[in-house]
Amino acid sequence: MSFPQSGPGVPAPPALSPGLVAEWRASGRGVFALLELVDRLGPVARVSLGAVDAVLVRQPEAVHHVLALHPERYVKRSHRLAPLLGGGVLTASGEAWREQRRLLQRYFTGQGIRRYEQHLRDAAERAFTTWDLAARTGEVRDLAEDLRFYSLDVIWRCLTGRAVTYETYDELRAVDTVLSALPVVPRPGDAPPDLTAEVARIDAVVERVLDEVRASPSGSGLTRVLIDAYDTERLVRDEVATLVFAGHETTASTLAWLHLLLDAEPHWRDWALERGPAGVQALVAETLRLYPVAWLMPRHAVEDDVLAGYRVRAGDLVLTSPYFTHRDPLLWEEPDAFRPDRPHLAARHPAGHGAYYPFGLGPRACLGAQFALREAGVLLERLLPAFVPKLLERPGTAFDITVHPAGPVPGTLQRA
Ligand code: HEM
Repeated sequence: MSFPQSGPGVPAPPALSPGLVAEWRASGRGVFALLELVDRLGPVARVSLGAVDAVLVRQPEAVHHVLALHPERYVKRSHRLAPLLGGGVLTASGEAWREQRRLLQRYFTGQGIRRYEQHLRDAAERAFTTWDLAARTGEVRDLAEDLRFYSLDVIWRCLTGRAVTYETYDELRAVDTVLSALPVVPRPGDAPPDLTAEVARIDAVVERVLDEVRASPSGSGLTRVLIDAYDTERLVRDEVATLVFAGHETTASTLAWLHLLLDAEPHWRDWALERGPAGVQALVAETLRLYPVAWLMPRHAVEDDVLAGYRVRAGDLVLTSPYFTHRDPLLWEEPDAFRPDRPHLAARHPAGHGAYYPFGLGPRACLGAQFALREAGVLLERLLPAFVPKLLERPGTAFDITVHPAGPVPGTLQRA
């Protein structure tokens, strides 16, 4: 598809009607009210997010244009997470990003992640043991915490060669405070929140990883690769922090959503188990359609362009959002329903790559996509046949930088 050339005849994206904007501002909920308005937005719309205007893009071709075809026109400019992740690969840009990505890429391809298989299985076994004990005693557990512990344990083992301790897990709760304090949409001119204490706590954990790995020169693990490859201590710190953050929050929330969705519609568990690993992957894929954890991907337009027939100006903030595209009724039948048997999850959607993109698109797409899918698969193939969680509460939805359950997910476990 080619877009019309920019020029005087090309219209600006339609703005929301003043009435809608007023209603939205009056609600005082900034970006969150978008969720209620999205059905009234076009494929590309100019929206006013309080202090910032943005172009919200949800049409698949336009999403593909921004993220995959023209990443040089729509750049990832640093970045809501920079206070936490410094110059790590998620927040880096330009040549520095290219080099870091090139180094890490080979450890995250389909072939590259095979080396982590034993770590995944060991972490899944640990999770199994915890739930098995809970099933026998009837203990109420916060299942979201257990799934999060698994996700951290996995990335920790890959980074250090060792299982994570409960103490480290607790210390890394500081990440939550950071995440909920950071703005969902960058607002130029806003003073960044003071996160010194939380970042210091996270730094102390990362420092311990580095000390441990340095103390065992023969030690395996990705951290050793980083220490050997990077020029500065600072960059090693930032990359370890990036992989710890990006590598566990996202998978943990996905697994929590999946359990919430299955609890509401338990027949999909049997459906998946009958189909084996492919059925389990379909559960994960449909969970990521409804709750694509990285739900908002901001880009900055560096030149004038035309998107789906509308003008975008250099300097515009452009928001692509898999959350909105994945729930677009023009693309998905019953978009809010959990239906892992949808044909367009297994095969490419007829509207193109931009119709389903929980891991992003283009050069900045998720480094850990295959890793995350394998990580979820190994755990679910171990737990789903063995346990049926019974949830006691269902939290709402929190739209921070990630979309995650807004509170604990308490439940008991029954043996299947
Ligand atoms: C279900 C789990 C996951 C989801 C939904 C997810 C989603 C995403 C998305 C959408 C992006 C692109 C953001 C953008 O374009 O602005 C991204 C980037 C990234 N992800 Fe993931 N991710 C997941 C798991 C992981 C894991 C397990 C790792 C590491 C082990 C990881 C590492 C990264 C990194 C390093 C980037 C930045 C890549 C770059 O800018 O070059 N992610 N992720």
